[in-house]
Amino acid sequence: AADTRYEAESAVLAQAAMATNHTGYSGTGFVDYTNVAGSSVEFTVNTAAGSDSLAIRYANGTTTDRPLDISVNGTVVASGVSFAGTGSWDTWKTKTIGAKLAAGTSTVRATATTANGGPNLDYLDT
Ligand code: GCU
Repeated sequence: AADTRYEAESAVLAQAAMATNHTGYSGTGFVDYTNVAGSSVEFTVNTAAGSDSLAIRYANGTTTDRPLDISVNGTVVASGVSFAGTGSWDTWKTKTIGAKLAAGTSTVRATATTANGGPNLDYLDT
């Protein structure tokens, strides 16, 4: 199915906040996770014909990986997914994960697994 874009700044944030202090983001900003394990961003997505990939645009201006657990409807479908350094906080890359979504509404949550928190998140494409 064609991509639908969900901006991170419109998602439900836990120990994370919208920010605009770096360039190159889509929409009105991006999400900066608090530097703590368990911080999360939860998207509510709606897919007409179902979807089998999740593409997450992110920036990580450090040289340390910021892994995320990806869950769909509360079940982890990809654990410890790597979000490696992108070179700067203004440099965005896309990480694509294979994950089946049923047609209709699903929640997709990206939860930081280390004390560094997550990378900065720009959007999710389903
Ligand atoms: C810096 C950067 C933030 C980033 C943070 C982090 O403060 O400006 O955008 O989120 O580092 O380490 O998570």
